[in-house]
Amino acid sequence: MKKATVVSPANIAFIKYWGRRNDKLILPQNSSFSMNLDKCLTTTTVEFGDFDKDEVLVKYFNQTYQNLEGMELDRVLCIVNRIRQKYDHNFKVKIYSENNFPAGAGIASSASAFSALTKALYEALEIPLTEKELTIETRLSGSGSACRSIPDGFVVWEKGKGDDSLSSYAYSFAPVDHWDLADVLVIVDTSRKLVGSFEGHQRAENEYQTARLVNIKKRLKQVQEAVRQKDLEKLGQAVEEDAISLHAVAMTSTPPIYYLNGRTFDVISSLFTLRKKGLLGYFTMDAGANVHIICERADAAKLTHKLKQVPGVLDVVCNRVGKGARAVNNHLF
Ligand code: PMV
Repeated sequence: MKKATVVSPANIAFIKYWGRRNDKLILPQNSSFSMNLDKCLTTTTVEFGDFDKDEVLVKYFNQTYQNLEGMELDRVLCIVNRIRQKYDHNFKVKIYSENNFPAGAGIASSASAFSALTKALYEALEIPLTEKELTIETRLSGSGSACRSIPDGFVVWEKGKGDDSLSSYAYSFAPVDHWDLADVLVIVDTSRKLVGSFEGHQRAENEYQTARLVNIKKRLKQVQEAVRQKDLEKLGQAVEEDAISLHAVAMTSTPPIYYLNGRTFDVISSLFTLRKKGLLGYFTMDAGANVHIICERADAAKLTHKLKQVPGVLDVVCNRVGKGARAVNNHLF
């Protein structure tokens, strides 16, 4: 056993995971596709030992370290306990984790957090896993999309077959340097969402979800071709369609979930104006109001500058394509 620290990225889905076919095994209703972000990161240090009790401390964006409590603590300990049981040991755990971006606001903070945690737990126990095995373990952490933060660059998460847990894993579709894309993340809201994605997935059961699933295979193919051919217009069309279809399902769920707000649409309408002027960028939103704009890196600075001026915009963070989860030597304690 050793002290282990892992840095892991958030990822932005071009084709999104929404709805599960198996809640316990976190098996999705559709395959998804994402790009890792190079700047939105979680760092997590884990150590097992003869401590008096389990201790989990978290430092959220712009805050100081605090003890994790309640349901969030239960969620982390549930992952730790599963691993303790699997490998039959009773050591207590000490976990420190920090985020360099706001959590729970549609910037995939759970993806970076749970991928960093899962990899750090295995590193600390010195249990070697293949990348594929680690993506499966990460998926089982509860945040399915976290499995896409393990491999590098552009990543596919296969939905797999039936209830076969081993058939649903993530792999790198193209490396970091394949295409110099950027995600210009326009932050309009840093408050925590009212309905978490775990619950959102459970509510994704209606005729709009049926329609979404019919079209998603075609969209995934379009995204894969567009990434292979580095065709931004083709990519952007599928990315926007997919985001809208997710939010249509969310808004027609029972009870409905409204992640988007007026400022989201102000940003989108400014983007359309810029696009008419030849500045190519395409929007997507996760389970939150913030807008991710996918563009060529060469256009990112201009888009950032223009979108910062839209009333209601709090900040704009520009991400390039990032590596997946990796172990580092600078421990947090
Ligand atoms: O992995 P979860 O349960 O946090 O769900 C993430 C869902 C979305 O971010 C909205 C879509 C996605 O594929 O990242």
